[in-house]
Amino acid sequence: MRNIKLFDSGSHQFVLLNESEAGEEDGVRSNQYLIQHDGVGVLLDPGGFGVMPRVLAELLRYLAPENIRGVFLSHQDPDIVGGIATWLELVQAPVYISRIWMRFLPHYGLKDMSQFVGVPDEGMDCEVAPGFNLKVLPAHFLHSEGQINVYDPVAKVLFTGDIGAAMLPPDKDDAYVDDFASHLPFIEGFHRRYMCSNKAIRCWLDTIDGLDIDMIAPQHGPVYRGAAVPAFLDWLKDLQCGVDLLLPGGRFSK
Ligand SMILES: [Fe+2]
Ligand SMILES: [Fe+2]
Repeated sequence: MRNIKLFDSGSHQFVLLNESEAGEEDGVRSNQYLIQHDGVGVLLDPGGFGVMPRVLAELLRYLAPENIRGVFLSHQDPDIVGGIATWLELVQAPVYISRIWMRFLPHYGLKDMSQFVGVPDEGMDCEVAPGFNLKVLPAHFLHSEGQINVYDPVAKVLFTGDIGAAMLPPDKDDAYVDDFASHLPFIEGFHRRYMCSNKAIRCWLDTIDGLDIDMIAPQHGPVYRGAAVPAFLDWLKDLQCGVDLLLPGGRFSK
């Protein structure tokens, strides 16, 4: 359980609301984020059905659900979308997800799709409220065929969904990555198997090139900051993964 302000200027905050405990959501610990600006906010990857009550309890320390002005779903996985039908009983706001997942979402128990916005492949700028702007950026095939990132130019935090995600052992619970070399063992296997290809990585690196990034906030595991941000991006640049490593017979080269 966490509630950490990654950025706080008073009127603008980027908050890691909660990390679900191991054993919940089939043992995948996940992060949910709130960005708050002058009394309104957005949720990033609010999480699966099981964590919803605790994420709501953490949210209420900051905002009432009626002050949520947007929900961003990085991709279609159940650990992100599983709780959305329950959230939408409380939140009257647009829900952003890649356009390619729109027709799959009703299978999460949604009867009414009118709140959903299908994000175009090239991403979009989003004015959440006057003076509260976010950039939705494409990160396709990393790992989902339609993945979106969210960049907050005030906090200088890039929310990356599963890019940078770590599977930490149960006894390890760091909030931040400061030393990338010691963190690498917790991300390497996941990125080699789940990320689609080096080409997808290069396209994404090109997309985020030029952004002023202080922190990279993934959906699982600790948040990258300081020197760990360029070190992670540098490692990713030459990573062979996914179909790069796929061999006939379903095996993967080492
Ligand atoms: Fe995923
Ligand atoms: Fe995930």
